[in-house]
Amino acid sequence: MTKSVLGIIGGSGIYELPGLEKAEWVKVESPWGEPSDELRIGEVGGMTVVFLPRHGRGHRLSPSDINYRANIDVLKRAGVTDLISVSACGSLKEELAPGTFVLVEQFIDRTFAREKSFFGAGCVAHVSMAYPVSPKLVDAIEAAARAESIRHRRGGTYLAMEGPQFSSLAESHLYRSWGCDVIGMTNMPEAKLAREAEICYATVAMVTDYDSWHPEHGEVDITMIIRVLKDNAENAQRLVGRIAKDFPREHPACPVGSDTALEYALMTAPDM
Ligand code: ADE
Repeated sequence: MTKSVLGIIGGSGIYELPGLEKAEWVKVESPWGEPSDELRIGEVGGMTVVFLPRHGRGHRLSPSDINYRANIDVLKRAGVTDLISVSACGSLKEELAPGTFVLVEQFIDRTFAREKSFFGAGCVAHVSMAYPVSPKLVDAIEAAARAESIRHRRGGTYLAMEGPQFSSLAESHLYRSWGCDVIGMTNMPEAKLAREAEICYATVAMVTDYDSWHPEHGEVDITMIIRVLKDNAENAQRLVGRIAKDFPREHPACPVGSDTALEYALMTAPDM
């Protein structure tokens, strides 16, 4: 059995992780370029927890400028086995009001200006993305959300858009007609790259707004988002603290094969 190392990628509003013991910022080099920031590596109850602020401290990087490959690579180098992304999102469903934490199970990737794979150019691999999140990680998040009385819903489809502009009204209606639940700008290609790196991945999508479709809520407004982000951040920090405290110290095998994703994925002959 491998020891669990829990990774947390903090999105907008989450730039630190209070409660980490013996924590220090560590610079990890990557052949894939510059990650968003140094890693904040510490412990919770004896387990290593590795935190990365996705936009960098001070929120310097827009979603299209994030080097997702370098981020996943440095987390892998730090030994992360299980990775939770904590991300702000818009709601595409009436019942998912701002403040709700959605434990996403599926993604639709509409991003187009990002590097999406570690493979290609001499080494070709096709990993499965049929089940992009690891159910055992979602179990851990759900149990923690219950224990901390945080409003949440298990399940939902996350539409990843390029941004940085928010959606038009027509786009927002289109994504609703596709059955999507939440919309954000950052979880793709992050989830795909985590799978290629054989890291179990799950997302806590924290609703900040109703995107642009809701007749009573009007356009997305960044001032409102920041206000909700502040409330969400406190809950997110409590949630992550609880997940880490209760997390299995031995990495549980992933029922959807996230941690063995490359076993049958490589196309290139080894001696070529
Ligand atoms: N992040 C937070 N709210 C969002 C929205 N409505 N669309 C895309 N990304 C978001």
